[in-house]
Amino acid sequence: MNQTKAQKEPAVIVIFGASGDLTRRKLVPALHSLACEGQFPEQTAVIGMARSPMTDESFRENLYGGVFEYSRLLPGREGICALWPDFASRISYLAGSYDQEEAYRQLGKRLVDWAAKSGVGDNCIFYLATPPELFPIIIDQIGCTGLNKGVTGWRRIIIEKPFGRDFASARRLNEQIHDVFDENQVYRIDHYLGKETVQNILTFRFANAIFEPLWNRNFVDHIQINVAESIGVEHRGGYYDNAGAVRDMLQNHLLQLLSLMTMEPPAAYNAKALRDEKMKVLQTIAPLCCEDALLGQYSGYRDEPGVAGDSQTPTLVAAKALVQNWRWQGVPIYLRTGKKLTQKATEIILQFKSVPHLLFPESVDLTANHISICIQPDEGIHLGFETKLPGTVMKTTPVDMTFHYGDQFGERAIPDAYERLIMDTLQGDPSLFARSDEIESAWTIVEPLLGEKEEPMTVHPYEPGTWGPQATEDFITRDGREWHYSCSKE
Ligand code: NDP
Ligand code: BG6
Repeated sequence: MNQTKAQKEPAVIVIFGASGDLTRRKLVPALHSLACEGQFPEQTAVIGMARSPMTDESFRENLYGGVFEYSRLLPGREGICALWPDFASRISYLAGSYDQEEAYRQLGKRLVDWAAKSGVGDNCIFYLATPPELFPIIIDQIGCTGLNKGVTGWRRIIIEKPFGRDFASARRLNEQIHDVFDENQVYRIDHYLGKETVQNILTFRFANAIFEPLWNRNFVDHIQINVAESIGVEHRGGYYDNAGAVRDMLQNHLLQLLSLMTMEPPAAYNAKALRDEKMKVLQTIAPLCCEDALLGQYSGYRDEPGVAGDSQTPTLVAAKALVQNWRWQGVPIYLRTGKKLTQKATEIILQFKSVPHLLFPESVDLTANHISICIQPDEGIHLGFETKLPGTVMKTTPVDMTFHYGDQFGERAIPDAYERLIMDTLQGDPSLFARSDEIESAWTIVEPLLGEKEEPMTVHPYEPGTWGPQATEDFITRDGREWHYSCSKE
């Protein structure tokens, strides 16, 4: 996000956990789409590392299935992608144990060979796509074998989420990382920040003069951040049962959205200024309080593979946050996320206050204005306002003014979040990655809901395919407000 981006330099992208789901479904399809667009610098290579025995060939075959299914771009969709053979020739596999030095020595040798062959610096991105328990082990081995420092090029590390499971573990992980890498080498991923529609929050707010003057307590009644998913835990039951909705979604994705919505304008368009402002606003949010939060679990969750039969892990969370600063004093921010809900819909609503005086006697129930920032799958922005109902009486009705990315820019114009984030890492721009202090602050905010220091909260059951337990509705109606479904409800 720096005004002038650094040159895209060739690099080796080493993926740890390369036999896993994320690599096949997200990372390699993203890399492939970038290659199809010619965005990759020449000679960029990928080395997958994991324990499973595989040859380069069988590794590529496994990846191609994922590319074919998930890649945004696939020239020659009918059979094999025309560009795959060239891209595949740059992919190789290294089998080895994450805790054994020998594997890292072999990796080091491959990096040296690559640099000699390609004639460029030995630039390398380490991508940690393993279960999080392995992060410290891998980082430690990278440090012990000296791979954290290039001989002629740079070294960077991308770390997947979850980043810790509470404040203390996140801090410990930050310390472990900082023993081996400088903060400017570290890219902590939150893929929501890579979404085009999320980045557009900044553009919408700070590239337009008409919205920002309204963006405060004088005009805004409340904000809602809704991240509804229709899928359940899928094949990730083991991981999810240990995490739950607070750790999996609220601590990271929803709080990142909240910070972009509520932060002050950064003084400059660069990583430091942006992350400083996000950090400032996170520091003004008091830890969430259990009385102002609610947990739910969908029926059938306990039968999912990898989930305990008596699990109390929440698959839904709703909470009220307060940003305690001059701009937002008294404006509640309702956060809600859940799995197996009616439909997938991520949207942010800025709900304005009602008009101060009712002028039209026929319209006593005027709908207050709102702006919906629709993140997915309806990617766009809606502005809700009142208009005169055609006819002989002066009666009003709410209408919707919309902007849709697909209509404006074409259906395949939006890059996948991982494409953007990998490209930013290659260019050394950490703007769309969470800094160590942001992560720690976010954990402080959600910690009361983790049930580890305080009494565990009640977990309300709900039926799959609904909008959650009735308590979720009561949670907001008791404040005289209601959940919005403008881009999502059929
Ligand atoms: P997987 O569970 O598929 O694990 C990745 C690889 O790590 C496996 O293929 C396996 O490779 C190795 N591995 C798994 N368990 C162990 C273990 N106990 N000990 C040693 N090695 C193990 O993970 P995902 O690919 O789903 O996710 C990777 C990371 O990305 C995680 O941190 C996850 O939280 C994060 N993430 C994943 C998302 C997704 O949609 N999948 C979404 C957002 C984040 P091998 O046995 O060959 O070594
Ligand atoms: C991941 C969570 O970070 O985000 C998943 O671990 C969740 O549980 C996913 O399904 C949602 O991402 P998206 O991009 O589909 O909204």
